[in-house]
Amino acid sequence: MRGSHRGCILGGVPERISEVTALLAEVLAPRAPLTVIVDGGDPGAAAAFASRLAAAFPPASRAWSIDAVLGLTGPGAGGFDSALNVLEPATDQVLVYLRGGPRNRFTAGDGERRAQVVIDNRDPEWPVIRHVHPDLADPDRWYLSESRAFFAARAANWDVKFGDDMPAYAQAVREAGVRPGDVAIDVGCGTGRALPALAAAAGPAGRVIGLDFTPDMLTEASRAGRDAAATLVVADARRLPLAAAAVDVVFAAGLVNHLPDPVAGLAELARVTRPGGRLAIFHPIGRAALATRHGRTLRPDEPLSEARLAPLLADAGWTVTHYEDGDDRFLALATRA
Ligand SMILES: C[S@@+](CC[C@H](N)C(=O)[O-])C[C@H]1O[C@@H](n2cnc3c(N)ncnc32)[C@H](O)[C@@H]1O
Repeated sequence: MRGSHRGCILGGVPERISEVTALLAEVLAPRAPLTVIVDGGDPGAAAAFASRLAAAFPPASRAWSIDAVLGLTGPGAGGFDSALNVLEPATDQVLVYLRGGPRNRFTAGDGERRAQVVIDNRDPEWPVIRHVHPDLADPDRWYLSESRAFFAARAANWDVKFGDDMPAYAQAVREAGVRPGDVAIDVGCGTGRALPALAAAAGPAGRVIGLDFTPDMLTEASRAGRDAAATLVVADARRLPLAAAAVDVVFAAGLVNHLPDPVAGLAELARVTRPGGRLAIFHPIGRAALATRHGRTLRPDEPLSEARLAPLLADAGWTVTHYEDGDDRFLALATRA
């Protein structure tokens, strides 16, 4: 990970941990009386995080705290599991799940799904909030700052890690049907891996814009020279700085499953697209393989599942024309109604 993102130390605690625990304390403290249960992560990670979280609450609001909870397996059990598989969320009980560690890989019951707060804790000094139940906090409170923290830490190594995928992006761009003279946008463009192919397809009479809300990603795109292919703009996909119906083709790779409200996000993409314009939702790896890479099992109710995506797109103003979820890529194409 990039050195500059290790952050500084505040009172002995890395700044990122302080940011996350302060945000959670601000969201949770007004809801007291309340029990906060932290689980997941590497052995010891939950206890460490819980004590830092407790320290972020005003002392007067702390009724009691514990250093660790020991879960005992019953007969027949043997693998790692999560306490969140046996506890229920309740109005006076908030479940916080830390991603990472052996339980993330081997858990049978996937306790994360029951948690109201999910934190990526693979690097315990760089925890990032990935989900907060909307009943606890409006996404506007945490989504932008936390998503940026997540992707900023990955920007410098993004192309090193995924660089071999460039031909797959070029093929997806061809299938998206970009024509000479088109205005094409790449939303959540990251380091701009699709931008050269989009620029080649749109030609000198066309225009390509890469938009991403993580400035570090766009810095890497420029470093790789992809600012020669496109105008790069720091922008949130949920509020694009573009006029209605200004765009012919929207390319979105690895974006939709990061949106807190997929229909609202897809509707914003529809707003900027002219009638008959096209949308390509792409990923250079299929959903099942991606889930395995992330150590989770695939759910049928995820936004990109075949059963859910068509109705979501229809609600947002799109008609699906192609759906493909193979081993080595995901590609859904849609037309603006
Ligand atoms: C999984 S990465 C994919 C990057 C690039 N499209 C690729 O395929 O290499 C997701 C990117 O979307 C960006 N992103 C996520 N949510 C966004 C939003 N609401 N608005 C703009 N960018 C967003 C992130 O900053 C990140 O660069």
